[in-house]
Amino acid sequence: MGADIVIGLQWGDEAKGRFVDYISENYDVIVRFQGGANAGHTVIVQDKKYIFHLLPSGLIRKDKIGIIGAGVLIDPDILLEEISFIEKELGPLEGRFFIDERANIVLPYHKEEDFLEESSKKGVGSTRKGIAYAYRDLYMRMGIRLSDLKDVNWLSDRLKTAAEFNNQIIGARYGHVPFDWKVMRDELLIFFGQIRPYVADTVALFHSYLEENKKILFEGAQGTMLDIFFGTYPFVTSSHTISSGAPVGSGIPPTCIGRIYGVFKAYTTRVGKGPFPTELTGEEGKYIREKGNEYGATTGRPRRCGWLDLPVLRYSAFVNGVTDLVMTKLDVLSGLEKIKVAVHYKLDGKKLRFPPTSILDYERLEPHYIEMEGFELEGNERSFQELPENAKKYVNFIEEELKIPVKYISVGPRRDQLIVR
Ligand code: IMP
Repeated sequence: MGADIVIGLQWGDEAKGRFVDYISENYDVIVRFQGGANAGHTVIVQDKKYIFHLLPSGLIRKDKIGIIGAGVLIDPDILLEEISFIEKELGPLEGRFFIDERANIVLPYHKEEDFLEESSKKGVGSTRKGIAYAYRDLYMRMGIRLSDLKDVNWLSDRLKTAAEFNNQIIGARYGHVPFDWKVMRDELLIFFGQIRPYVADTVALFHSYLEENKKILFEGAQGTMLDIFFGTYPFVTSSHTISSGAPVGSGIPPTCIGRIYGVFKAYTTRVGKGPFPTELTGEEGKYIREKGNEYGATTGRPRRCGWLDLPVLRYSAFVNGVTDLVMTKLDVLSGLEKIKVAVHYKLDGKKLRFPPTSILDYERLEPHYIEMEGFELEGNERSFQELPENAKKYVNFIEEELKIPVKYISVGPRRDQLIVR
């Protein structure tokens, strides 16, 4: 089997970037398959911090190929910025970075609508990158794909229609002045000239990589509870964040998938609005936020913090088909006297082992916790045996509950602060 997947099991920000950076050593090709510049993958290499929004973070390794698949939304400005940043740091990307020409583009009116919607407080607390609105156009068959930029007449026709529709919405809803499709078209043509060396039919590339026995790693963005179908709808993002999204968003068949690495933090966070059963609104939440530096990599927003939620992990492990668990940021819990874990919920007197399906039920949900003894970590523990007894008990408890091995545990942000069991 040629392809494995790294996926987030909570509400995003599970520190997937650092795990992808570590595990990508064993792969030839790293692939983004959904979402867009709403993601923020932070990687620290030799005390240097890299934040990627669009490029696969595996590109940090100079011998790897990075691919942006058909399911990803392209934000032209951010793409150019990241390409130029990484080329300055690591040399030319031509020949080792490709974007699928089927990928859709986030246009200025998508970002504007997202901004206006959020500013009017009607939104879900989005990252304001225009994601929902660009996917809306895509599913209405009104999106602009990279391949549309190859022919100016075709592009003009498509963009004129799409701009008319979007201008009507932002005009009627917010009185916004219309965007000029000709200006956008000219900008898009310049943009296409700049990215042309990287644009490809990546399905054909995947086919040849698999024939050459190259190993492919999918890098998920956001998390399972933000999935458009299986997350806490409507407080979700607009893409398929679960493992099944990887074949969909890349064109690689599901039969090629082998391992599925499910990444979760030793506690829980979420940004934006929406249900969060184990949220801590008091001092403990603040402690975790400050110690874990829980501020958004994309927006800088403070993240909401809370205890680990096993119903969420049980559900996520199932819908993703997780084979290996990756626990990150265990060191952040260090210093707490007691640590709680939600093992199930109660809803109207009934015990629930999975999250409810309706957003309305979350309001009446009561998490049932067990309490565990705290521990102190130094961050220099390099094996499971070196962890304090209470930290081991914490990891073992989660493993027993989920019946999936916790194979990796991070005790700090650096590459070497990852315990492999
Ligand atoms: P959007 O994806 O910008 O439309 O935002 C929809 C919801 O997903 C909001 O609650 C965002 O905070 C959340 N979200 C989007 N991307 C990320 C991410 O990379 N990490 C965590 N939350 C995210």
